[in-house]
Amino acid sequence: MRILGVETSCDETAVCLIEAEGDFGPDFKFKLLGNALSSQAALHAQYGGVFPNLAKREHAKALVPMLTQALREANLLSSRPGLATARPGLDVILSREPELLEQLIPFLEQHENPDIDAIAVTHGPGLEPALWVGVNFAKALSMAWDIPIVAVNHMEGHIVLSMMKEQRLADFEFPVLALLISGGHTELVLSKEFGAYELVGQTRDDAAGEAFDKVARLIDLPYPGGPEISRLANSAREKNLPRAFELPRPMLHEDNFDFSFSGLKTAVRRIVENQSTSRPGLDEFKMRLAREFEDAVADVLVAKTMRAVDEFGANTVVVGGGVSANTYIRHRLAEALADLGNPAQLLIPPPELATDNAIMIALAGYFHAHNAEYADIGALKASGNLRLETKA
Ligand code: KG4
Ligand code: ZN
Repeated sequence: MRILGVETSCDETAVCLIEAEGDFGPDFKFKLLGNALSSQAALHAQYGGVFPNLAKREHAKALVPMLTQALREANLLSSRPGLATARPGLDVILSREPELLEQLIPFLEQHENPDIDAIAVTHGPGLEPALWVGVNFAKALSMAWDIPIVAVNHMEGHIVLSMMKEQRLADFEFPVLALLISGGHTELVLSKEFGAYELVGQTRDDAAGEAFDKVARLIDLPYPGGPEISRLANSAREKNLPRAFELPRPMLHEDNFDFSFSGLKTAVRRIVENQSTSRPGLDEFKMRLAREFEDAVADVLVAKTMRAVDEFGANTVVVGGGVSANTYIRHRLAEALADLGNPAQLLIPPPELATDNAIMIALAGYFHAHNAEYADIGALKASGNLRLETKA
């Protein structure tokens, strides 16, 4: 089965094409036929964060070029004119995305329908205006090409991608505990089978990635802040700089699986405000602060994850979301599982696949398509606060 994946939930416009076969299990395998991604991070960096309406406009501009690139890579971009030209109704579906419509009509006129079975698109959670562009794009393609849509939960995409190894499912056992750490989410999710999820803990305020981004901003580092903080923190470790600050470890000892990161950010702000910026050694100050912050985040993430592994008897820990690209946090999680003598297997995607992409959406979408779980296109909506579902 060939699935086109479309992801526009935040600041990455991504389109890919996979070919996959088999049930969720050892027989499953897939090939990545084409993959295109355009990041808006540099644009949003000027403002220190992602602006939903700016993101929406950029997605509208980038989707047809990303689709073209992914299909070309997959050798599925025919040069014969399409028959599905200007189907009536496309202008209604894309009435809020005129820039996208303007590019899509000539695209459909110039290329005949590719041999694809379904479109998997992120319908939440994320920035709602951004999500709508992807959803409407999928609806337009579904109509033009006459193929169904699978609506994918972005967080399930992160989980499923983390479960892959060499274009197959890794050899792992449920129950799976997923630690999802991104710019918008910090969650511990328990899964006893594919498609069934129970939220066991979450942040009560800022997400982990958001905390990285906000702290980076406080010390004048560009957006996205995660990689920048991580770089400085690693320098502090390499240089063996002594610990100079003590940040709190919020909720570390509380008997639950929830997180809180806004107090940490406030504590960093206080330290920064009490620091005269003209003082020599500013670089060293930032390195030490970045390190203490990263340590604090890692301490809390690791402790809560280990507590949940014990409590729920997880056989596998899956880590996903942009913050899982962090080398130090990856290392700390692996070390903690090994130290505890816990046999739970750790699955983390390679750093380049930890941040948002379309492959994760196509993969999660494939399993739903395989079960014939298609969206009702008339009712399909973008949903910024979409939750992971619990199967009865
Ligand atoms: O999953 P993702 O790409 O998008 C969302 O769905 O939010 O995550 C983006 C977040 C940003 O907050 C970014 O700062 C953070 O992931 N991030 C990192 C690292 N790379 C990206 N945080 C810490 N360390 C990193 N190396
Ligand atoms: Zn994400």
